[in-house]
Amino acid sequence: MTAIARTAATGGALDPRFLRWQTSLPVDRRLLSVDCQGSVAHVEGQRRAGLLTDEEARVLTEALRGLPARVAAGEVTLPEDEEDVHMAIESWLRAEVGAVASKLHAGRSRNDQVATDLKLWTRDAVTRLRSTCDALARAAQAWITRHGELAMPAYTHRQVAIPVLARLWIEGGLLDPIARDVALLDAVEQELATSPLGAGAIGGTTLPIDPAVTAAAMGFERPPRNPIDAVGQRDHALLLVFVCTRAAMHLARFATDVVELCADGLMKLGGAIACGSSMMPHKRNPDLFELVRGQAALRQGELVALLTTFHGLGSGYHRDLQQDKQVLFAAVDGLEGCLEMITLGLEHLTPNAEACVAALADGDAIATDLAEALVAGGMAFRDAYQHVGRLVATQRERGERLVDLRAEELVAAGLPASLKDHLDPVESARRRARRYAR
Ligand code: ARG
Repeated sequence: MTAIARTAATGGALDPRFLRWQTSLPVDRRLLSVDCQGSVAHVEGQRRAGLLTDEEARVLTEALRGLPARVAAGEVTLPEDEEDVHMAIESWLRAEVGAVASKLHAGRSRNDQVATDLKLWTRDAVTRLRSTCDALARAAQAWITRHGELAMPAYTHRQVAIPVLARLWIEGGLLDPIARDVALLDAVEQELATSPLGAGAIGGTTLPIDPAVTAAAMGFERPPRNPIDAVGQRDHALLLVFVCTRAAMHLARFATDVVELCADGLMKLGGAIACGSSMMPHKRNPDLFELVRGQAALRQGELVALLTTFHGLGSGYHRDLQQDKQVLFAAVDGLEGCLEMITLGLEHLTPNAEACVAALADGDAIATDLAEALVAGGMAFRDAYQHVGRLVATQRERGERLVDLRAEELVAAGLPASLKDHLDPVESARRRARRYAR
């Protein structure tokens, strides 16, 4: 260890066991690229302030710009025995460019550095999530093109309720909720407008580095308004983890629909995404959808972990904040994986049209349409409702369904024979869906 952040006042060398335990390097090496981006901006700020010559700035910038690609190519390995990615990079830089590397950290602290890195990482994560959600929306639209006009039951209380078109199910159970989550990403982006760089450890710097210059170099709208808040707040991360949690919950609810529709035989999974049983030869299980449902629990745990990490802290930076990264990364990675799996799952999810029509008929899903047809003919709703309730009860006693009713039976029950024209659940699904055309 190079002990970059140790002085005579810090008190001797770190116990290597403590160093190994406290390092964030295994997690925050993912910040390598944004850390270099932030350092390049800081170098520009220093150069403009006259703290670095043009040549010194060029040497530092070139080394920092090239580092991520060199690490990715395996040409450079970051030192393992540092406290975090920031120190690992500084220590590598010293070996790479020599003494000028010692000038880099003037006017900044790891506190504003890591806060900046996290905002830059979050910005990229939002862009990635938007495109993963776009891909899901495209897959859902393609599913609607293939199967959207099919009639299927909508359920209440896990019981057949009303005939709907399959597109209404996909739109209501998946597309619209995820579109609302995507809209929330705008709010995350708003929280990324202010650059933390320049806030230093907690009170800024006396050096003439213009934080507006470094902010602009990284694409932030403005420099920090307050250095204490700049290094201590992670609201953007919290909001993004909330969005991940809510989107995961939406996917989980959709996944439950799929699991149940498959169990009822109304949907079929392609073998490419179905798992078998190690014992029972006949199984084709919806593991993809169950795993997506299970992931929602992890997202909720992450949201609580982040809230609980923050809630006991005073203002400014505290080392507790180090654990924000593993939570944020897990939430974003986890959601991305689930979005991708649902996108894939939709390709291999096929409705069973005959089973859907049979479920609509067997479940007397047409009952409400019948009552409403009577209302349209002038009957009060409560009377119509009771009439149809009696029809359902008699038909069930006879082992029959509403769709089996014959005109004479309707007339014998004191109802118009024309009600016979309202018994088709597929027609009902189409009629109902017209109002929700897109
Ligand atoms: N590894 C630390 C983190 O992720 C970097 C900041 C360290 N700052 C400090 N004052 N020890 O939060």
